[in-house]
Amino acid sequence: MLLKIESLTKRFGGLVAVDGIDMKVEAGSIVGIVGPNGAGKTTLFNLMSGQLKPTSGRITFEGVDITGSKPFRIARLGMGRTFQNTSLFDRLPLKINMAIARRMRTQSGFFDSLVPLREREEEADVARRAGEALEFVGLAGSAESIAGSLPQIAKKRLAVGMALVGEPKLVLLDEPTGGVGAGDISGMIELICQIKDRGVAVCVIEHKMRMVMGLSDRIVVLNFGRKIACGTPEEVSGDPEVIKAYLGSGYSA
Ligand SMILES: Nc1ncnc2c1ncn2[C@@H]1O[C@H](COP(=O)(O)OP(=O)(O)OP(=O)(O)O)[C@@H](O)[C@H]1O
Ligand SMILES: [Mg+2]
Repeated sequence: MLLKIESLTKRFGGLVAVDGIDMKVEAGSIVGIVGPNGAGKTTLFNLMSGQLKPTSGRITFEGVDITGSKPFRIARLGMGRTFQNTSLFDRLPLKINMAIARRMRTQSGFFDSLVPLREREEEADVARRAGEALEFVGLAGSAESIAGSLPQIAKKRLAVGMALVGEPKLVLLDEPTGGVGAGDISGMIELICQIKDRGVAVCVIEHKMRMVMGLSDRIVVLNFGRKIACGTPEEVSGDPEVIKAYLGSGYSA
């Protein structure tokens, strides 16, 4: 088991955003996380990747207790992520965005990642890795473009590349097709499948039910911070509580 979450809870004052969640991610698998707005999906990611500390519960990654660990430590252990609002360095070229993301893996934090490289060998390695990651996400031809000038789909692809450039064992993708045009969605699905083909596990938050049903090995359904169902896409889509809470009675897988 790559990731194990036990009785995880996060309170914001009186609000229980994540409420006693148990969840597992097997190495190399795709886990879809679905649920209505405000269900606690992003908060769950923030707890996994160390952006937030849980109120209680435990998270283990490859058997290592990472509960409350700093984001850079968790990244170094092999967890990459994207953000729902796609946080890029908008004024910098794609290749620099990628190089910074690569260095975040080896340095102890964001500011350290900006310190000029002393070792020429390391610099060459960062450039090579950045180039490979751009190639993988289909943006090799735009390496010199400024990130902020890209269309939404390319920004989302860049963010996925930045999550992968540190060679993670698990990537967390928060709404990778958010704001993306209908014609670009199948390309993103293909990219997520290619990530899995590389042996990297994926947790993906998505509102597009057919997409998540088609991609995922397992699905976790959240509602008001609680896990209301989990299982294969078939199991989950037939669950009466899921249909009631989220899918709507007209939905069929
Ligand atoms: N830093 C915070 N402080 C206070 N409340 C928060 C904070 N972050 C999230 N919340 C609240 O926690 C709940 C869960 O939010 P979260 O962003 O995890 O939902 P979500 O499932 O990702 O929703 P969406 O589909 O809209 O992205 C919401 O009620 C939200 O307002
Ligand atoms: Mg969210």
